[in-house]
Amino acid sequence: MTDQRPITILCLASEYKGVPFIEECARQGARVILMTAEKYGGEPWPWEAIYRHYNMPDLHTQPNITNAVSYLARENDIDRIVALDDYDVATAASLREHLRVPGIGETQARYFRDKLAMRLQAASHGIRVPAFTSVFNYDQLRDYMAAITPPWVLKPRFEAGAVGIRKLHDSEGVWRALDELGDEQSFYLLEQFVPGDVYHVDALLWGGEVLFAVSSRYGAPPLSVTQGGGIFNTRLLPRDSEEFRETTRLSADVFRAFYLQQGVTHTEFIRAHHDGEYYFLETAARVGGAHIDKMVEAATGIALWQEAARIELAVERGDAYELPEHRDEYAGLIICLAREQWPDLSAYNEPEIVWRVPREYHAGLLVASDDPERVSQLLDQYNDRFVRDFLMHTPNKQGARTTF
Ligand SMILES: Nc1ncnc2c1ncn2[C@@H]1O[C@H](COP(=O)(O)OP(=O)(O)O)[C@@H](O)[C@H]1O
Ligand SMILES: [Mg+2]
Repeated sequence: MTDQRPITILCLASEYKGVPFIEECARQGARVILMTAEKYGGEPWPWEAIYRHYNMPDLHTQPNITNAVSYLARENDIDRIVALDDYDVATAASLREHLRVPGIGETQARYFRDKLAMRLQAASHGIRVPAFTSVFNYDQLRDYMAAITPPWVLKPRFEAGAVGIRKLHDSEGVWRALDELGDEQSFYLLEQFVPGDVYHVDALLWGGEVLFAVSSRYGAPPLSVTQGGGIFNTRLLPRDSEEFRETTRLSADVFRAFYLQQGVTHTEFIRAHHDGEYYFLETAARVGGAHIDKMVEAATGIALWQEAARIELAVERGDAYELPEHRDEYAGLIICLAREQWPDLSAYNEPEIVWRVPREYHAGLLVASDDPERVSQLLDQYNDRFVRDFLMHTPNKQGARTTF
């Protein structure tokens, strides 16, 4: 069933990402209105695929954003609203509610953006999470700290990229941190620090079913990379491994608990060193950052951003969505901040290298193979070589956002 008039999709972009999403929408005849945070308005967006473009100083300030989009709606019948960046998920939900546009509304968006809502919703569905508490009631906070062994992390509810996370070792430290935060403190949660390996499951859903999922394990946990200034790496796991099976099974539990019907998601777990169990870390209703989409595509041929667009349009049209044919191969990514502006990676020439991160002050490689062992081997080897050849040691205290 095809509409007479083109579908109009408003895309919100607080960062430069989601280009293949926009291109796929245009390819299918939809009109894309792109609203960018000013800072990213001049990036090489696919202009020929964009019907209209607007810059805003930022995409969060209310009522400015609601007024601006409502103004646009006078001339444009907006069918769908899409968040291209994680920071746009809540704004998109609020705009959907205002304009009565279908899709994830505010209550549900919280499960994917608010780390406290995520914990509560997961725990109430029997999903294992680190012991946590809100930062509302001081009696509860005192009880929590008396009962749960430190260290804890004091974590912002609405950030991403490990921004603002503090590891604390005693209640004195917590009270001091809360004091510094003042009125900001209720926008945090406190949870037990669970040392372990961090996994991510990148998946596509349709009709409440997982149609596609790959599971990967980060090298060093993201927090130690962003705050300790190390090397980021991640790799797809063998599909017949216990880790793959468990993390993909658990992510399906999370999707059910969060009532997710369709779309693309990035979901993380910690496998605790102390008990070997998997603890739900977080989930997002979006494509994973740090070029994870490129890694998934190198291994499988599935382009997550493009599929996200196909799903969005299929929902709007009432069409069926079918996952394209894909490969079951493997890939891995390694990236670090480099000392030099354009580091020389010419000595890295294994045939498995399929892409190099084209960004100044970054060294990064994507490797692909049909053999997961080979991918792992290369990443481990490159990890040592990157330390010697490129790594810039800038221990990055909480606050700075190191995105790859
Ligand atoms: N409870 C925890 N125990 C151990 N490490 C944690 C915990 N919470 C967060 N981290 C570390 O911080 C990183 C970022 O936390 P996460 O909840 O995934 O938020 P973000 O949205 O910033 O990625 C994780 O990848 C992990 O390394
Ligand atoms: Mg995370």
